[in-house]
Amino acid sequence: MNTIIRSVDKNNIDLKIIDEAINILRNGGLVAFPTETVYGLGANALDSKAAEKIYNAKGRPSDNPLIVHISDINDLEKIGKNIPQTAYNLAQKFWPGPLTMIVHKSEIIPYTITGGLDTVAVRMPSHLIAKTLISNSGLYIAAPSANTSGRPSPTFAKHVIEDMKDKIDMIIDGGNVEVGIESTIVDLTSDIPIILRPGYITKSQLELILGQVTIDKAILDVNSNEKPKAPGMKYRHYAPKGKLTIVEGNIEDVIKKINDEISKKRQEGFKTGVIATNETFKLYNADEIKIIGSKDNEKEIAKNLYDILRAFDECNVDFIYSESFRNSNLGYAIMNRLLKAAGYSIINI
Ligand code: TXA
Ligand code: MG
Repeated sequence: MNTIIRSVDKNNIDLKIIDEAINILRNGGLVAFPTETVYGLGANALDSKAAEKIYNAKGRPSDNPLIVHISDINDLEKIGKNIPQTAYNLAQKFWPGPLTMIVHKSEIIPYTITGGLDTVAVRMPSHLIAKTLISNSGLYIAAPSANTSGRPSPTFAKHVIEDMKDKIDMIIDGGNVEVGIESTIVDLTSDIPIILRPGYITKSQLELILGQVTIDKAILDVNSNEKPKAPGMKYRHYAPKGKLTIVEGNIEDVIKKINDEISKKRQEGFKTGVIATNETFKLYNADEIKIIGSKDNEKEIAKNLYDILRAFDECNVDFIYSESFRNSNLGYAIMNRLLKAAGYSIINI
């Protein structure tokens, strides 16, 4: 398949290109497009066959459900049913934006979209290209992240091209995304709302609207035998080719430990890499040093994370070491992704 690639300026959207994409979606095709979090791989959410194409293009297990993207709050009750008031309260505060809500699904949503579940994930993105595509099409657009299953989510169109070229009908290149990690997912079908995937919208922000909020036990304690409530969270995602280890502790000790590990690996003939910050990058002796941003700017760190993981794949490093970015805000979501990429390999010193 020959993938059409078109650049669109989000501040001056070429509606002819949007129409081209809409035409493809209406005919059951796949279009990758930018959202504020990561690029999505879109299909008509009411078309089971189109949804199946998404699973094939991504190599995604069919029990892993897709998020349905909407552009109008009134669509929530068409896709879902028994919608709680809390959903509207959250929508008022955080939509359009990087928050996905799980509600009971209505009859129109096929089980191919929900991986067989009776619930559905719904999000209203804020990215201008995504908004225009959804509202002008009049469709509900099912869209997982536009990466091959198991690779980091795409934050630039070039990442989508790497993974999806010749497998999908069209890619809309809207430049770099704003957030860089996927939306927060909150399940509103239980008495106390549960965060199934941490993201840009933090637990304390949700608590301001919802009161009590819990975090899925399987995410809180990865050593527990709990099964994650978001099926996608059980897979080892975001894995770079090199073995990633996170080193956590006092920053001077972390730098020393990482440099010690690097020396050992280099003596053994391996190529090494480090994920460092603006403040520390000069202090490492690795073959490849990537700067993720300033340690005090977690938004910058989130935005650069996946690009850096992909960049390490290109330079074929065998061992990668990263500082830790743990804190209770966005750092919680960053560490969730980084720990998964590391297969939970962490050295505490
Ligand atoms: O920011 C995002 O959410 C991006 C952009 C494109 O919107 N999308 C995204 O989709 O990250 P995806 O498919 O890569 O991740 C969706 C996650 C998976 O972990 C999936 O298991 C979970 O949402 N999910 C979807 N429907 C669900 C449901 N009914 N119940 C529980 N988890 C669900
Ligand atoms: Mg994904």
